[in-house]
Amino acid sequence: MNLNTLLGTEFPFIQGGMANVATGAFAAAVSNAGALGLIGSGGMDTETLRTHIRACRALTDKPFGVNLMLMNPCVEEQAKLLAEEEVQVVTTGAGNPGKYVPAWKEAGIKVFPVVGAAVLARRLTRYGIDGVIAEGTESGGHVGEMTTMALVPQVCDAVDVPVIAAGGIADGRQVAAAACLGAVGVQLGTCLLVSEECPIHENYKRALLKAADTDTMVTGRTTGAPVRVLKNRMAREYVRMEKEHLPLAELEKLTLGSLRRAVFDGDTDTGSFMAGQVAGQLREIKPLRHIFEELYNGYCTCGKGMAAE
Ligand SMILES: Cc1cc2nc3c(=O)[nH]c(=O)nc-3n(C[C@H](O)[C@H](O)[C@H](O)COP(=O)(O)O)c2cc1C
Repeated sequence: MNLNTLLGTEFPFIQGGMANVATGAFAAAVSNAGALGLIGSGGMDTETLRTHIRACRALTDKPFGVNLMLMNPCVEEQAKLLAEEEVQVVTTGAGNPGKYVPAWKEAGIKVFPVVGAAVLARRLTRYGIDGVIAEGTESGGHVGEMTTMALVPQVCDAVDVPVIAAGGIADGRQVAAAACLGAVGVQLGTCLLVSEECPIHENYKRALLKAADTDTMVTGRTTGAPVRVLKNRMAREYVRMEKEHLPLAELEKLTLGSLRRAVFDGDTDTGSFMAGQVAGQLREIKPLRHIFEELYNGYCTCGKGMAAE
């Protein structure tokens, strides 16, 4: 299956939904640059989401979608809104979207749940989904345990729908690797944070450009909500408190509003700078179109093979 045909894109790339980052304007910029833009609904109430969907539609005539966070308290309302607004594509995070799929399919929406395990991918195919996004633990934001390298082929073997790889992809070599693992396309997050069009604070972009390969860490492994972020005072403090088994309420005081402090205020001490392990590969701020062309051209020219002897 050709992902461009399925999504109506020029490149087989999806911009991952990113809470507080992926506004309607950013999703439209991604779609205009040839990939599939997604509005990140995390942290939005239903009316805010509607405003972003309409803003996106006003800014692009290309297909775009919405990433629905299933743990959002207004998820029922938002699920209905997506059908009402005739959004073309929905991706879902943090759970099983099965009960919403029939109404979305009736509205002509293409549905791509994000999964971190093959067993969940297989279960979801029962609902008539259009594909799955297999996201490895290298990713920025909420993560599972499995690496992209181990996860993608196992998801491909488990399902008979197209598989999109996510996590740890920021250049053509990694796109080629994802294709070798069986993916028909890739979802990108971290490398798009340093695009010219990305509406995050300058300090966030600067921190990403400065990062080395080992400069991310995972907070929340002990609380059941692991999140990959750039190492900073807040992240180190959080993990120290986890090791001391402090109550969840204490930990939450640290993280409450922390992504917003990173995205909007650029607070490098107390912000949660969600970022994947590819942060160490990022060298400069570029226009989205340039990033997509480099990724695609890099993929096409990535002909290195291993010697058999
Ligand atoms: C700042 C940031 C916020 C994110 N927020 C979400 C989110 O709200 N929903 C979601 O499904 N994934 C979220 N993700 C994951 C991305 O959609 C994407 O799958 C991931 O970034 C891909 O891996 P990469 O970071 O290695 O490119 C987020 C990632 C980042 C970097």
